[in-house]
Amino acid sequence: MSAQPASDRAGVVPAAPSPPSPLLVMGAGAVGCWVGGCLRAAGVPVTFVGRPRVLDELRAHGLTLSDLDGGRRTVRADALELASSVPAWSTPVLALLCVKSGATAQAAAELQRALPAGSVLLSLQNGVSNADVARAQAGALTVLPGMVPFNVVARAPGHYHRATSGVLAAQDHALLRAWQPLFAAAGVPLQLHADLTPLQWGKLLLNLNNAVNALSGLPLRAQLLQRDYRVCMAALIAEALAALDAAGIAPAKLTPLPPRALPAALRLPTAVFRVLAFRMLRIDAHARSSMAEDLAQARPTEIDALCGEVARLAQRHGLGAPVNERIAELVRAWPSAPRTLTGAQLRAALGLA
Ligand SMILES: NC(=O)c1ccc[n+]([C@@H]2O[C@H](COP(=O)([O-])OP(=O)(O)OC[C@H]3O[C@@H](n4cnc5c(N)ncnc54)[C@H](OP(=O)(O)O)[C@@H]3O)[C@@H](O)[C@H]2O)c1
Repeated sequence: MSAQPASDRAGVVPAAPSPPSPLLVMGAGAVGCWVGGCLRAAGVPVTFVGRPRVLDELRAHGLTLSDLDGGRRTVRADALELASSVPAWSTPVLALLCVKSGATAQAAAELQRALPAGSVLLSLQNGVSNADVARAQAGALTVLPGMVPFNVVARAPGHYHRATSGVLAAQDHALLRAWQPLFAAAGVPLQLHADLTPLQWGKLLLNLNNAVNALSGLPLRAQLLQRDYRVCMAALIAEALAALDAAGIAPAKLTPLPPRALPAALRLPTAVFRVLAFRMLRIDAHARSSMAEDLAQARPTEIDALCGEVARLAQRHGLGAPVNERIAELVRAWPSAPRTLTGAQLRAALGLA
């Protein structure tokens, strides 16, 4: 369990420590409210930029942060700085980019217009290309890739729950080094790496299950306990590993099993998998992938940044990724014909005997 600051039950934040820069959350949603909320609960001033529907919830309910380790913190609404557009700043800012991949370019362009040169934009997004997309729109800012290993779900208006565990990671930078003690004190330690590419791909491999989970209609844990769904996940990962091999990229190990062992482990009978992967299965019983939430709420998904990225990498190296392409088609087709698939149906739809 990560260190967690003393919870203030009344939601009154402790006295503010002096941060190395102003802190902005761009995209107050699951990740933004969780990470920014932990820092706010620890006394760090944070400005949350978000959509009116989310900001209204925060104004009405304040912020509640809970986690699978039993932690619970609250921040009163009057301790939250909320904005529906990026306020102009005169001093360099640390901005956490927490929008979905499809919103990256627009959000980065907004940040570029409002923030002074020297500001740092840390992408806390899935996929491997968001920092590049942001950089193309925000050339005056320093854009860094980050990686969020844990799952955050919105449980109720203003209530965000961390449903799995793991340590935030980002590409090394002097400003982030200065922020590290505050992140650690807030219960969201931040590890810095010279090259984030292996971690981003290690996370992307696991995120390939997002589409399987979304199409299953089941909570993550229940879905992972069905072998047919795991066979689908194994095929998606195996294709990605072949493409990564061809590209000379070694994905980082983010689970007790090394990435290369994942396909075989996923194909094991459920009774064996349950024992081997007990840490991977330490997931809140109700947690679903964010792609499942996106389909449920008819929002654009990140399928192109996940399975689409694998297909493009494979293609660049003269390989195919037909299973990733096929599941991407199923996800894209969902809005016109929403239908959950059993494990056997999904296997058949993906051409997996
Ligand atoms: N949730 C997780 O468990 C988790 C874990 C690890 C990584 N991630 C990654 O983290 C990123 C964020 O995911 P999330 O689940 O936190 O998404 P989310 O809950 O949808 O939050 C993003 C919020 O930002 C808003 N937004 C988009 N563009 C904006 C703009 N220009 N100005 C203000 N607000 C804007 C979105 O509104 P609209 O919906 O109207 O666009 C949405 O309310 C994704 O890349 C995701 O893959 C998520």
